Amino acid sequence: LNILPTITYDQTPVHVGLAFDSVWNLVDERTIIITDSNVMAYWGHLLADRPTLVVPSGEDQKSLSNLEDMVFRLLAFGADRGSFLLGVGGGVICDLTGFLASVFMRGIPFAFVPTTLLAQVDASIGGKNGVNCGPFKNMVGTFNQPQFVLTDPQFLSTLPDMEFANGLAECIKHACICSAAYFDWIETNLEGILQRDRALLEVLILESVRIKCDIVSRDPLEKGERKLLNFGHTYGHAIEKLNGLAHGQAVSLGMVMANELALKRKMLDPSAEQRVIRLLDKAGLPTDTGLLDRERLLALVRNDKKKREDQIAFILLNSIGQAVIEKIVLHD
Ligand code: GLY
Repeated sequence: LNILPTITYDQTPVHVGLAFDSVWNLVDERTIIITDSNVMAYWGHLLADRPTLVVPSGEDQKSLSNLEDMVFRLLAFGADRGSFLLGVGGGVICDLTGFLASVFMRGIPFAFVPTTLLAQVDASIGGKNGVNCGPFKNMVGTFNQPQFVLTDPQFLSTLPDMEFANGLAECIKHACICSAAYFDWIETNLEGILQRDRALLEVLILESVRIKCDIVSRDPLEKGERKLLNFGHTYGHAIEKLNGLAHGQAVSLGMVMANELALKRKMLDPSAEQRVIRLLDKAGLPTDTGLLDRERLLALVRNDKKKREDQIAFILLNSIGQAVIEKIVLHD
């Protein structure tokens, strides 16, 4: 008997390491799959002959107009209040499926099978969903938890290296804010992780999922502690927008910038700062902040439409494994 780890948060079980085929025991015949063209190309054969709504892959699918189109397509499948949506894909698919299920006929149940490392350790956990409005990311959405998350590391075998590194940025973020022991473990095992050793991937995903679930169950609506998960994201979102980088790459640079700030404020030790840079580097993530246009980044951070105060809540490290929320007034 293979006993598999399941972590539960807010009554949502997250099954880590379960083979995809087990999903058919968890859903009924009223299930409609939502996936993208990429997953379809590599893994379409696993989806049996279930009704499947396929969207093109890419962040631009996260729009209200696409959502309306998806509603019409659901109706064409005969979807009603008794339907169940299963999102099989990366972060975009999780965000779209969660939001669509939350508002379709005022809400139907849904679940996720995340297929990228980023979605497995981050986007599938936590209940935030939504779509973008023009340049404003996740401007419309809800907090709503899936019925379950099934995470099968086999999907990572077809993930391009850069996509894999994007997910690793979030794992390193989890280690930086919560667990020095996890940071040590990633450092020690990085080579095997990069070779996608199945046993190491299971530990990696499990540990990150555990950290995120712990934080989210203590603060589901992001009133306090959950903000720690934004480590590297304040500058990261601005870098993503300004430099057109992928999320994980931008978060990597955002973490380096946050650590520079913590160093200036004499919170973080220089040797710890260097250790984080070395690990990000070895993971294949960018760390050279020298070429970034700091003035324009600052302007973007200040103009973030979700922020109402002059002060910006930055997540800074005291040490590896320990983060705090610092309100900072940004000067030019
Ligand atoms: N869906 C991602 C989160 O809630 O953080």
